[in-house]
Amino acid sequence: MINRALQQTMRHTLRVGGRMLGAGTGQRCLSGLRSGQLFTEDGSEFAQHESLLKEASLYVHWPFCLKRCSYCNFNKYIPKDDNNHIVSQCLQQEVDTLLQLSKVSCVTSVFFGGGTPSLAHPSTVSDILEAISRRTSLADEAEVSLEVNPTPEGRTKLKDFSHAGVNRFSIGLQSLLDEDLTRLGRDHNAHQALRTVEDARKLCPGKVSVDIMFRRPGQSTASWEAELSELLRACDDHVSLYQLTPERGTLLFKQLQSAQVTLPDDHETADMYESARRMLHQHGFLQYEVSNFARNSAVSHHNLSYWKGRQYIGVGPGAHGRFVPLGEGGTHREARTQTLEPDVWIREVQQGGHATRRRIQLGHLELLEEVLVMGLRMTEGITHEHWQLFSPQLTLCDIFNSSTDVQEFLRCGHLTLDDGGLRCSWNGLALLDSMLPALLLQLERQIHPKAPR
Ligand SMILES: C[S@@+](CC[C@H](N)C(=O)[O-])C[C@H]1O[C@@H](n2cnc3c(N)ncnc32)[C@H](O)[C@@H]1O
Ligand code: SF4
Repeated sequence: MINRALQQTMRHTLRVGGRMLGAGTGQRCLSGLRSGQLFTEDGSEFAQHESLLKEASLYVHWPFCLKRCSYCNFNKYIPKDDNNHIVSQCLQQEVDTLLQLSKVSCVTSVFFGGGTPSLAHPSTVSDILEAISRRTSLADEAEVSLEVNPTPEGRTKLKDFSHAGVNRFSIGLQSLLDEDLTRLGRDHNAHQALRTVEDARKLCPGKVSVDIMFRRPGQSTASWEAELSELLRACDDHVSLYQLTPERGTLLFKQLQSAQVTLPDDHETADMYESARRMLHQHGFLQYEVSNFARNSAVSHHNLSYWKGRQYIGVGPGAHGRFVPLGEGGTHREARTQTLEPDVWIREVQQGGHATRRRIQLGHLELLEEVLVMGLRMTEGITHEHWQLFSPQLTLCDIFNSSTDVQEFLRCGHLTLDDGGLRCSWNGLALLDSMLPALLLQLERQIHPKAPR
């Protein structure tokens, strides 16, 4: 029921526990673009707010790692040769081409993810920021994040990255237990991780995030709570919690299949999530999304732009994007994926300025599906104003009031639909995956009432 492009987005941007649903819905043709408004064939508006077209965030994928972690199936490669310089040049070229294609006048945030972008030379960051500024505006206060692996090398480069323009670090701790780090195939230890967080906090106070995973092999709720206590003594104002997901093709997946390792069961996993939410809350962190917690308003503006259905441009091998290619007369938003393999990606960028491998046009329903699925991940949910940006004609109440399933979610207190919009309750957030099929079905019924099912 959920569209293919959305499945990819969920994998790409959420990186945690999101269950994939079935594929494929019909698309609606668009007839034209008038003063920043998109229209469907029958003339009804479907995305009309000009700021949706003028702005985008930018994701830059650095595809190299020093080694493979046992659980990771992200698009990453262990490089045979040092081709950093050429990759950096191609990233700048792709930024330039796709900015031109999107015609956005402002890049609101930049995120260097990977792979291991802290392996890149810091000049890659400054060169890409300059490439953006040559083509469009990048606000002085724009959030520029970089994922850092907390190895000694990562730590010593922090200062140079900060001089290059990074103002927010996202540090991949994964665990604070050396034994677990070894088992996960990480190339750092807990001491190195804590020193990296300390140094990053000196450079970017209040702008350091840490990634930590739970449901690790052999983990218990008690040891997780002890680990979180240690984390809370060391961390800054942002924490991302990832539920370890066994991915096909990884060493962890094989180890699980051959029963070499076991993961905590669903019940224990739910306990771990709940204890983390509680402990973070007690330490002043507000949960603002299923996996993300911030205090002192230190939210990730870049990730919020995904959850709020804003445009984003993805550059680098395997990067994903969502934008209207106005520069070539495009009239509707596309889900775009760049070529995966770095050598092929380099060739394509050198030949054609960019290496977009796949483009899927998003119809009205598909756009609303994304807004719904992404929006409900945020604790503030989907406000009426936010929904109206994408659905000027059908309100949240028009769509969901007639569904008995949704009425049941509201009655149980898992969902709320009121003047503030549609959102999950504390309990509902943990159950979001199980509510989505009914919500998406209802959306489809209302948008395409006559479609066969
Ligand atoms: C792909 S990594 C890239 C950043 C950096 N290389 C690192 O490892 O810290 C981004 C985040 O994805 C999360 N991640 C990767 N594979 C995962 C999996 N199978 N299950 C849950 N989280 C995963 C990790 O927590 C990691 O911090
Ligand atoms: S988790 Fe990070 S360091 Fe490990 S293989 Fe994946 S991208 Fe590379």
